Amino acid sequence: MPLERARLGVNIDHVATIRNARGGGHPDPARAAAMAQAAGADGITIHLREDRRHIRDADLAAVRAAATLPINLEMATTEEMLDIALAYRPAAACLVPERREERTTEGGLDVARLHNHVAPFVTRLKEAGVRVSLFIEPNRVQVAVAEALGAPVVELHTGRYVELCFAGDRVAADEELARLRDAAAEGAKRGIEIHAGHGLTYDTVGAVAGIPEVRELNIGHFIMGEALFVGLEAAVRRMRREIDIARGFSAA
Ligand code: PXP
Repeated sequence: MPLERARLGVNIDHVATIRNARGGGHPDPARAAAMAQAAGADGITIHLREDRRHIRDADLAAVRAAATLPINLEMATTEEMLDIALAYRPAAACLVPERREERTTEGGLDVARLHNHVAPFVTRLKEAGVRVSLFIEPNRVQVAVAEALGAPVVELHTGRYVELCFAGDRVAADEELARLRDAAAEGAKRGIEIHAGHGLTYDTVGAVAGIPEVRELNIGHFIMGEALFVGLEAAVRRMRREIDIARGFSAA
């Protein structure tokens, strides 16, 4: 019996990273959003960072105009981002930790420690009709606090699992996968929708997509890197296929 299909959210941030390296308009992340949609993506994810290192404010409207897929806005818990999100009203917002000096989002949002800070962001986004997701480390405490905060969705951080796989540490990778499974089951038991993402590749997505409770995967950097070699549509299609196979849709 196949599981339900899991959605693939394609993160297009790094199309903007390449564009910004030269300061012009090419390559255009909005065009990437349209291509990802044509290739079978179920959503478009963008992260407007405080330093605007990749996605910029003007991209928000352009991406929405280019693709009809639901947009998932990754955002830090700052008043500036909240104002932007409330004006933009994406289908979903994923609250992430953000430090200027980091290369990418390192670690989940520690909602247990930051409960009082995060709470009004969850409330105000929900009131605006935005589906709120909390990007958390895969452990039961974070999941329990996410429920207490009223978050309908958590996205489990898969970065550590991927790193351990690529370090060749099978034992530790399996332990991390067990933590992802446990957190996913715990969240689903509490009525929270489970998403997962960060660092996933063709080789590592299957184990995560095979976790029954995982309903959505958000993947960016690897897809964009592959796109350099095989084209964006082919890279999205292949990732889509890896996810489908992991969930029992072998002929997809
Ligand atoms: N999910 C979240 C919350 C993220 O912050 C990121 C990176 O922007 C991703 C998923 C995608 O990670 P990657 O680009 O490594 O696939």
